[in-house]
Amino acid sequence: MSEYNGTQPPDDAFGHNGSAGLNGSFAHNGYRSTPEPAPSGGELPAAEPGRRYAQIIGWGYHVPDKVITNKELEQIVDTNDEWIRTRTGIEERHVAADPKETTATLALAAARKTLAVADVHPSKLDLIICATSSPEYIFPATACIVQDALGAVNAGAFDLSAACSGFVYALSMARGHILAGDAEYVLVIGAETLSRYVDWTDRNTCVLFGDGAGAVLVAASDVPGGLLACELGSDGSGANTLLIPAGGSAMPSSLETVGNGSHYIKMDGKAVFRFATRVMAEATQRVLARAGLTVADVDLLIPHQANVRIIQNSVLKQLKIPESKVMINLQKYGNTSTASIPIALCEAIAAGRVKPGDNLVFVGFGGGLTWGACAMKWSVPVDKQAAGWWKNYRRQAGYQAAAARSMWKRAVRWVYDVWPNDPEKGPVKGGEAVSPAEVRNLPQKS
Ligand code: ACO
Repeated sequence: MSEYNGTQPPDDAFGHNGSAGLNGSFAHNGYRSTPEPAPSGGELPAAEPGRRYAQIIGWGYHVPDKVITNKELEQIVDTNDEWIRTRTGIEERHVAADPKETTATLALAAARKTLAVADVHPSKLDLIICATSSPEYIFPATACIVQDALGAVNAGAFDLSAACSGFVYALSMARGHILAGDAEYVLVIGAETLSRYVDWTDRNTCVLFGDGAGAVLVAASDVPGGLLACELGSDGSGANTLLIPAGGSAMPSSLETVGNGSHYIKMDGKAVFRFATRVMAEATQRVLARAGLTVADVDLLIPHQANVRIIQNSVLKQLKIPESKVMINLQKYGNTSTASIPIALCEAIAAGRVKPGDNLVFVGFGGGLTWGACAMKWSVPVDKQAAGWWKNYRRQAGYQAAAARSMWKRAVRWVYDVWPNDPEKGPVKGGEAVSPAEVRNLPQKS
């Protein structure tokens, strides 16, 4: 498996969707060469022979179509637009209103856009990490469902649970795998349908959250820069300040837990607020020190989008980073938990706020309690050109082939299930084990 070395021709197997679309899809012209020098600000360091770097080479996001405004919430709970705007900064949020929209479908849409931008075939993925607090199931992992639908036949896949810090944690995992030489391409997804865990009669929480997914593709590279340093932290003594009490081994699901609303998000908002304002600033300072940078070097800080006052009190007031260098888009999406940072990254790129050579910081906090920050030097071009129809067609055909492959594998499993057999030997005929290739010739079961 070849790594992204800054000189390869584009992977021709999959293309792009041809537009910088509504949901953050960016086309790619196949250019995967040495990053352009930064027009201003940071400079790209010289390459060190043999050294690996972890570069973000693709990005994408997807949110449900349904939008719920603050005014509409006024019809549901005892709240008002003025309170929500002034106390949180949120104006509206996207909600997965269609039951067919799940964490996996949102994640898949973001993943496909990401691979299109990177122009990388799913079979090249070594690992898929889906950070989520609202997984499709307790198990299997949502990442496995995405793996199957993408046709990422060579990828390991797992979910990562660190609440809203999950995306930063997953970036750190991806960086570690790549720098250790264990992976060349790691797809990192943050995906949520927290609207399904919100008590829509509880004004303390239901006004805050929204649904969506964002993803990045992290690739091994010999181009200097990329993910420079990560800082992760946790404090389980605060576990009770933000949790879903039931559904786990501590409080298994029962009629009683359903009846008393124990499957909904419970939050001590003030405690989380105090914690968040402290750790966002601290984690940013620590990760910058690890990366050999200072606050003055930051070109763009992308914080977890929970509450504009948390961002103001931490990175703006404590670190004195000007607002022009902080990405805020929570007014449109609310708190999308693990998806908030990658969605904000995609929107920052689309708005021209990210350039090669820029120093970026991602910083988040969440239940656990957890927090995390990543510092990176952006090193790849962001100007993407539309893909041709042929590439789009091939990409779609690839996903249809993945669906067909999945159905075929399920059918083969079904055949194994319906024939009386020794599970250790596979299907048997006259006491002899039958190879999978012979299965289709077995006589019908009566
Ligand atoms: N509409 C109208 N009034 C409200 C609402 C609402 N939606 N919610 C609370 N109020 C009322 C309260 O009842 C209270 O009234 P009272 O004074 O008569 O008792 C008043 O507003 C003030 O309430 P506070 O709790 O003091 O409001 P505060 O300014 O602290 O804001 C908030 C609450 C927005 C929840 C804030 O504390 C916060 O953002 N905390 C952090 C939450 C967070 O980020 N959670 C996500 C973490 S990420 C993860 O892992 C999922």
